[in-house]
Amino acid sequence: MKIAVFNGSPRKGNTAAMVQAFREGAEAAGHVVEEYQVGRMKIAGCLACEYCHTKGEGNCIQKDDLEKILPAYREADMVVFASPIYYFTMTAQMEAAIQRVYCIGKPLNAKKAAMLLSSGSPGVYDAAIAQFKAYMGYAGIENAGIITAHGDENGSEAKLAEIREFAKGL
Ligand SMILES: Cc1cc2nc3c(=O)[nH]c(=O)nc-3n(C[C@H](O)[C@H](O)[C@H](O)COP(=O)(O)O)c2cc1C
Repeated sequence: MKIAVFNGSPRKGNTAAMVQAFREGAEAAGHVVEEYQVGRMKIAGCLACEYCHTKGEGNCIQKDDLEKILPAYREADMVVFASPIYYFTMTAQMEAAIQRVYCIGKPLNAKKAAMLLSSGSPGVYDAAIAQFKAYMGYAGIENAGIITAHGDENGSEAKLAEIREFAKGL
């Protein structure tokens, strides 16, 4: 499979370690992994101008880093949303990246999706997980799995091994 990983963290920290473990497992199983560092991209919120659904014919009127991730939304067989938790949801950069898919409606080719979440505290994932499940349900994409890491789990060999095994089994 061609797997697109959207990393919502603006820095090379705990989420990056989860993505790296995912990559190792997925590549060991023969998949091709492309990472998109949306946390470091400039992607504005949707303007609801409807240009994309009228004259724009699927193209967004805002010219920003969305253009770097749209090919993945069109082509990837699997999408992975990896993000730190900021105030009980994914980062603002990730939310913008998700909502701007509006111009094409949804990830067009993806059959599977997964989520990797990192946080300081336990029990802070409900909103992000509810959004992910609802969004994938709406898009008709199978939820292949959700892995979270909080506190000392971040960067631990046990957690990274769990992620590698998960990715190997896709
Ligand atoms: C702006 C901001 C908001 C955060 N909000 C939460 C939160 O609501 N709950 C929590 O447990 N951790 C919160 N954290 C901590 C991060 O989720 C945690 O440090 C995470 O491991 C960072 O991932 P990273 O190293 O990939 O950036 C927040 C951190 C920042 C910078």
